[in-house]
Amino acid sequence: MSEPQRVAVIAGCRTPFAKAGTVYRDLTALDLAKACVRELIERSEVDLRSVGVLTMGQVIPSVLAPNLAREVGLGVGLPASVPAHSVNRACASSNQAIVDVVQAIQNGHAEVGIAGGAESLSDVPILHSRRMAQALLAASRARSLGERLRAFAGLRLRDLKPQTPAIAEPSTGLSMGQSAEKLAQENGITREEQDELSLRSHLRAAAAIDDGRLPPELCRVFVPPRYESVVEADTLVRRDTTLEALAALSPAFDRKYGTVTAGNSSPLTDGAAALLLMSAERAQADGYTPLAFVKSWAVAAVDPAGQLLMGPALAIPRALERAGLELSDMDLIEMHEAFAVQVASNVQALESQRWAAQQLGRTKPVGQVDRERLNVSGGSIAIGHPFGATGARITTTLARELHRRNGKFGLLSVCAQGGMGFAMVLER
Ligand SMILES: CC(C)(COP(=O)(O)OP(=O)(O)OC[C@H]1O[C@@H](n2cnc3c(N)ncnc32)[C@H](O)[C@@H]1OP(=O)(O)O)[C@@H](O)C(=O)NCCC(=O)NCCS
Repeated sequence: MSEPQRVAVIAGCRTPFAKAGTVYRDLTALDLAKACVRELIERSEVDLRSVGVLTMGQVIPSVLAPNLAREVGLGVGLPASVPAHSVNRACASSNQAIVDVVQAIQNGHAEVGIAGGAESLSDVPILHSRRMAQALLAASRARSLGERLRAFAGLRLRDLKPQTPAIAEPSTGLSMGQSAEKLAQENGITREEQDELSLRSHLRAAAAIDDGRLPPELCRVFVPPRYESVVEADTLVRRDTTLEALAALSPAFDRKYGTVTAGNSSPLTDGAAALLLMSAERAQADGYTPLAFVKSWAVAAVDPAGQLLMGPALAIPRALERAGLELSDMDLIEMHEAFAVQVASNVQALESQRWAAQQLGRTKPVGQVDRERLNVSGGSIAIGHPFGATGARITTTLARELHRRNGKFGLLSVCAQGGMGFAMVLER
């Protein structure tokens, strides 16, 4: 077997992120995904004939276009011969999409690939109850009006109630927010600590917009019905938020004793993001300067009935070990902020002797997390979290910032439903 190909991150692009139900309410995840992939192709001037694979992540797929990636490929003008598939690893879906392309390149199945993800929480599938669905199916098969009407006989009022997807663990029934509250209680993370972390997320995102670091990642999105209005900037970043304003917010998931609020949670968001990946050889041959190279990655999982959002504190040491590196080697760390308390808890675990001993069988903690290298351009609390797109956003931001700073190594992590955690190390 020949040596696996080294894989380069060439470019990344995303739509501006916006609160669900606002500026993108009439668009689908497919519309958003096409907007950013089209722009990625245009800006990078990649030869479409060189693209060998396209993968996209989406957490709540449309029942009308469940293989998002294929529709994106066909919609943006990739040759119909380019295979495309979609993946679901909950909030780490676009990370998995990236890994799928990396592996295709490493294995020599492709030289160039596009990976990303999208989510529209404005356009979630709303289901009929099972009994209503059965009645509708029976009615569609009916051969007479009488038979059609009889199909609906026996339906009760409660069968008419639509079912919306819940942001909750199917295995425990606990919502993500309730699981976040559990972390706060069991790890002793205070409301103040959560609000401070959230304030930092907003202020750093605002600074990264103002000094021009984040805007080049964005494409413009024209919105229906007339396609005259255009979204050009993230809409969720609150540059004027303060600790006092954050402290005044009521808990969202445990009204009486809770600490998790709208201010220290990632908001429900619409958006899409994608990256162009190439083998190092192909990048050099085609004259591209890579932003960074993929060094290692890891996925881990914890019992969702325990501390649901702690996957990153297991995946990070695994990815570092595979890279042969220490946490202290990292110039930058991008940790997805599902909730401030999840970031604080994972940082606490990485720095904890007990976590190292009990969870990793190690004598020493994974390492200190330098707050000045962590989420330097803000995070999902400020920027937003379209589930299927977040991993691609974070990978782009990390690669670009590592390149801008002329850094050597960067680490990213994402927590995901089901107790999973994803981590990746990039190098230059
Ligand atoms: C927390 C959550 C329920 C809040 O939803 P929401 O009530 O629609 O949130 P809003 O944006 O309307 O914010 C509520 C209030 O807080 C205020 N607020 C939010 N962030 C703020 C900030 N940083 N500073 C000041 N005020 C803020 C809003 O202005 C709003 O005030 P208003 O009621 O006076 O208009 C929702 O964002 C959520 O479910 N998030 C978690 C998503 C999740 O589980 N993700 C999975 C992660 S893996």
